[in-house]
Amino acid sequence: MKAVVCNKSGRPDVLEIKEVQKPYPRPGEILVKVSTSSVTRGDVHLRRMSRLILIPIGLIFGFKPMKITGVEFAGTVEEIGSEVTRFRKGDRVFGTATGLVFGGNAEYLCVPENHKMGVIAHIPDNVTFEDAAVTPVGAMTAHFILNKVKITRGMNVLVYGASGSVGSFAVQLAKNYGANVTGVCSKANLQMVKDMGASNALDYAADDFCTKPGPEYDVIFDAVGKISRSRCVRMLKSTGRFLSVKYPTKEKSETLKYLAGLLAEGRLKPFIDQEFSLDQIREAHAYVEKGRKRGNVLIKVSN
Ligand SMILES: NC(=O)c1ccc[n+]([C@@H]2O[C@H](COP(=O)([O-])OP(=O)(O)OC[C@H]3O[C@@H](n4cnc5c(N)ncnc54)[C@H](OP(=O)(O)O)[C@@H]3O)[C@@H](O)[C@H]2O)c1
Repeated sequence: MKAVVCNKSGRPDVLEIKEVQKPYPRPGEILVKVSTSSVTRGDVHLRRMSRLILIPIGLIFGFKPMKITGVEFAGTVEEIGSEVTRFRKGDRVFGTATGLVFGGNAEYLCVPENHKMGVIAHIPDNVTFEDAAVTPVGAMTAHFILNKVKITRGMNVLVYGASGSVGSFAVQLAKNYGANVTGVCSKANLQMVKDMGASNALDYAADDFCTKPGPEYDVIFDAVGKISRSRCVRMLKSTGRFLSVKYPTKEKSETLKYLAGLLAEGRLKPFIDQEFSLDQIREAHAYVEKGRKRGNVLIKVSN
């Protein structure tokens, strides 16, 4: 099968398209024929991180460096190993390969049904492989961090970096909780952020929200890791909370199932900025690495 292999750290040209052996599911594993995958900021970090750092971190947290790239995947179950109970051949599934050595930038991937890191769930019938593949990392991250606070109807929530993957999901999730959402982004993305459900969108170059009369917000979520709490603390109400994408997060199957439900109901819609083929993986990584993608970047693996 065709796969994107990463054997060393460095620039996008360390990624190689290779013919590798198709995997076979072991007990408890599912073989997925991958339809779509993605390139996330995490994929870029993993590619750039020196093996000298990655190997010791992996030893501490119990994973090995990824050989086939691509944390997110969506596809169809082609085979199931013994002991698999939740999935059947032909099921449409999506998830993450976090902590696995072989990822979703490949024609096939084996994922454990129960895994302490990567997660997998069914794709609702009315959700496309494209939308499913780009949802898990950004939406689970936004969900995990926003849920550190109980967001209720009428709260004022500001999402900084609202045009990125985590940011665009955070805007929609906060809106689903009934919050009044303000998104901060560049001028070019103001309309996109309003389309995601923000009642207000501020251009960070022209309209510094930190210098406005405050306090105004119940929650300020830095979804891109570019502002500090100290810079915007005066904009937080006395009970307000500052949240950051820099916090550690945990992927959970229940969260992915919940998000699948929102996708099916049309209450969550991933924004797909650009689409690349598996053969264009280096271009896709170079694009994501610029730090200016809008929402998510899709990799089409098969038709
Ligand atoms: N904690 C976790 O588990 C976890 C999980 C996933 C991601 N992350 C981290 O979260 C961060 C965001 O990830 P992501 O995938 O959402 O990023 P991303 O999609 O690559 O973010 C790109 C977006 O950020 C905006 N942006 C860039 N500089 C900005 C600035 N100074 N102020 C406001 N917006 C700015 C860009 O818009 P403009 O071009 O319009 O500025 C662009 O739309 C990354 O650092 C990633 O590593 C953490």
